[in-house]
Amino acid sequence: QMAAEPVNLNEFQELARLALPKMYYDFYAGGAEDEHTLKENVEAFHRITFRPRILVDVSRIDLSTTILDYKISAPIIIAPTAWHKLANPEGEVATARAAASCNTIMVLSFTSSSSIEDVAASCNAVCFYQLYVSKKRDIAATLVQRAERNGFKALVLTADTPRLGRREADIKNKMIKPQLKNLEGLLSTKVSSDTGLNLEADAREAMDASLSWKDLEWLRSITNLPILIKGILTREDAIKAVEVGVAGIIVSNHGARQLDYSPATISVLEEVVHAVKGRVPILMDGGVRRGTDVFKALALGAQAVLIGRPVVYGLAAKGEYGVRCVIEMLKDEFELTMALTGCPSVKHITRNHVRTEHERIH
Ligand code: FNR
Repeated sequence: QMAAEPVNLNEFQELARLALPKMYYDFYAGGAEDEHTLKENVEAFHRITFRPRILVDVSRIDLSTTILDYKISAPIIIAPTAWHKLANPEGEVATARAAASCNTIMVLSFTSSSSIEDVAASCNAVCFYQLYVSKKRDIAATLVQRAERNGFKALVLTADTPRLGRREADIKNKMIKPQLKNLEGLLSTKVSSDTGLNLEADAREAMDASLSWKDLEWLRSITNLPILIKGILTREDAIKAVEVGVAGIIVSNHGARQLDYSPATISVLEEVVHAVKGRVPILMDGGVRRGTDVFKALALGAQAVLIGRPVVYGLAAKGEYGVRCVIEMLKDEFELTMALTGCPSVKHITRNHVRTEHERIH
């Protein structure tokens, strides 16, 4: 029986579930512990409604925007997610090609299964490189150099992972994952085929739990690339990030895979936006599944959103073409939302176009 063509991002999740071994599907889909935040990331969007404006000329809609001076077709970019080769043999190369054909940015994960070099050689997408910093600082320095040499345009320092969150599906499934492609020969842990513990062991070696704000100075000293910091959830940390000179902030709870009962990202976006006061661009990710979600994030002050799981589901279901479908579908929905709210370009999207649950209806 042929599965029908998916008509939205959630249907890609079902196709991915059918396409993947349970262990890998659970790895992609799962969150930390009770998965409270996993549900909240999506449901908090449902509690925001629109204040649509009518009789605006929306015969032409311009979705395009600019991130760090790179013009992209829509404010939707690809979040860094691990091990795309578990979803499709072409791995991150397929994802990067899809990003290029959709004219958007891909953030390549530190835990990618395709190498920095292979991704760079495969297409002309604008790519950012996501970094974890290990105790051996020269590993990070080597990766930063390789990213620079291969034309990556920015670094994304993921700062919410001093240790790996507790993902119980992976524990139950004894999740085994392949070697970290870009770290071949750099880490000492080996893949063990029976214990399933190497996820945690690798993580402990790849991530330095002592990393702190002062290390941002070191990171800035070894690169000319702009640095975005990913994992901000409070005004306090947003202000610190601006003070240490980041080029941008990504409001994120790591797709609810780290600290359960972190707030839904869309619910804290505005706190961060108010603290930053326009000094650096703010992006957000977590639970974006609809064009209306993209619009809501922009109305609350984000310059763009990143998409994690749906991209992997598209890749698992239909390879590079599937990733393209996911992004184009979201773009189409976003464009329709702009038309129906009376916003001919992203600059027209304002705070007044949405109502959060705390705002009284007069
Ligand atoms: C992630 N995420 C992530 N983040 C990061 O900085 N480095 C990484 O290697 C990974 N790996 C990863 C694997 C998988 C399977 C998922 C689902 C997520 C987090 C990711 O960048 C992003 O913050 C979330 O995925 C966004 O939430 P949604 O779109 O998945 O709801």
